[in-house]
Amino acid sequence: MISNPLRDPRDRRLPRVPEPCALVVFGITGDLARKKLLPAVYDLANRGLLPTNFALLGFARRDWGDEDFAELARDAARKAARTPWREEVWERLAGSVRFVQGSFDDDNAFDQLAATLGELEGTHGIGGNAAFYLSIPPAMFPIVLKQMQRTGMADSTPDRWRRVVVEKPFGTDLASSRELNALVDSVFTADDVFRIDHYLGKETVQNLMALRFANTLFEPVWNGHHVDSVQITMAEDVGIGGRAGFYEETGAARDVLQNHLLQLLALTAMEEPVEFSAEEIRTEKLKVLRAISLPEDLGTFAVRGQYEQGWLAGQRASGYRQEEGVDPESTTETYAAVRLGVETRRWAGVPFYLRTGKRLPRRVTEIALVFKQAPHLPFAATDTEELGNNQLVVRVQPDEGVTLKFGSKVPGSVMEVRDVSMDFLYGEQFTEASPEAYERLLLDVLLGDATLFPRNAEVEASWAVIDPLEEFWAGTTPHPYRAGEWGPRAADEMLAAEGRRWRRP
Ligand SMILES: NC(=O)c1ccc[n+]([C@@H]2O[C@H](COP(=O)([O-])OP(=O)(O)OC[C@H]3O[C@@H](n4cnc5c(N)ncnc54)[C@H](OP(=O)(O)O)[C@@H]3O)[C@@H](O)[C@H]2O)c1
Repeated sequence: MISNPLRDPRDRRLPRVPEPCALVVFGITGDLARKKLLPAVYDLANRGLLPTNFALLGFARRDWGDEDFAELARDAARKAARTPWREEVWERLAGSVRFVQGSFDDDNAFDQLAATLGELEGTHGIGGNAAFYLSIPPAMFPIVLKQMQRTGMADSTPDRWRRVVVEKPFGTDLASSRELNALVDSVFTADDVFRIDHYLGKETVQNLMALRFANTLFEPVWNGHHVDSVQITMAEDVGIGGRAGFYEETGAARDVLQNHLLQLLALTAMEEPVEFSAEEIRTEKLKVLRAISLPEDLGTFAVRGQYEQGWLAGQRASGYRQEEGVDPESTTETYAAVRLGVETRRWAGVPFYLRTGKRLPRRVTEIALVFKQAPHLPFAATDTEELGNNQLVVRVQPDEGVTLKFGSKVPGSVMEVRDVSMDFLYGEQFTEASPEAYERLLLDVLLGDATLFPRNAEVEASWAVIDPLEEFWAGTTPHPYRAGEWGPRAADEMLAAEGRRWRRP
């Protein structure tokens, strides 16, 4: 008998729907919950990816009832949902939202939450399963975790699962991340902890693995024999918005380099996992993170900057020190760039240039492999003056896709070679739009699939890279750059010192 692969329950192409469960969001009135989490819950419901027996619980200090919460959730979902609005989907969801009012130091409120979860087992058949999302200021993590421990809410048993979702920042340095990890691990078992790095939820980041491991074309040249250097960029055109308090304490290196950029580096540089499972992928990423080396000359190869007043998209943009809530003498960096090495056989000698910044000319995240020049060109030098290096660029956002840059003959009688591009755009090749990163990650939490979530050892290995940088920068003033420029001159000099240039995405 020929089996139909579409009927095989192990077929990963089939949409998977989680078991009956509840999603509990602490900090439901906050920015992240309104902009990302509530719309993601609606989108999942709209796509039929939530279980029939599902409940959404919000926890915050407002004196609200279930109806007030349902109204906030509806507004938030309507405003930011990715998929079309369907009232009947919302109506179904609205029947299973609950609000628990209280402060995090309020034992009664947590007892009430535990009781509500118990009730929902009877009324909504959630089977005791629950995921707790800590969408709250990091300083509040300890108190909330302890409350969950005290009430027994954190305990998974053979009959039910309990999971926790932790938002970044995972600490502010190696010591504090170890402390946080120890605390989380004392309350939840390691397999039940999901650390969100929303970049890993992006379709193109996952496509990086498809590109590398589902094709024969790229992997043979994916190493130091052929790759000259790698550039990983996360550029934002926006400033710090209303988050001065958070940003003043954090800066670009802790906010982006430590997590998003190092995770992208790990996925770019890792070996093929034995299988496509959380355990194996995380193992390979961890090996890369542990193999990262910092340059000896940090003065040249680690640059931080801060934007000054300038122009962006025809609009005047104020300097960082003039932003509301920022210290006029602030030395917090809004730009960070560093040259890292990966000390493995595959990558020995290949520089990985990482950069991130705010108020840069455009919003773009990309990974670019810059290949070595051909060892010999059998053409007259004048005909090939414009020939650059071959490049393979994975665009994470926006315009998700992949571009291959290579030399091609210019039409005509002379042998002139010039760079051309071959483009793959997600939006053109596939009709289905990519899910939002939070939509994908929330679903994975409810399914218990930890593939796209960094584990604690990865977080600690990343801080071990960042700590010496922060130490080196402590007490120094960042290099200035004008808003609307691609970072400070020192960052260009960093590449020029090795005869290279940043890409202008
Ligand atoms: N916003 C983003 O885009 C973003 C991006 C990446 C990561 N994150 C991370 O996500 C988390 C949440 O960020 P956010 O921007 O949403 O923060 P936020 O807007 O400041 O929201 C904080 C939430 O926590 C609640 N809260 C604070 N103290 C409380 C207490 N003592 N008792 C009960 N509730 C309390 C607040 O409820 P009340 O209404 O009662 O004050 C509010 O709902 C943080 O860890 C942040 O680093 C955020």
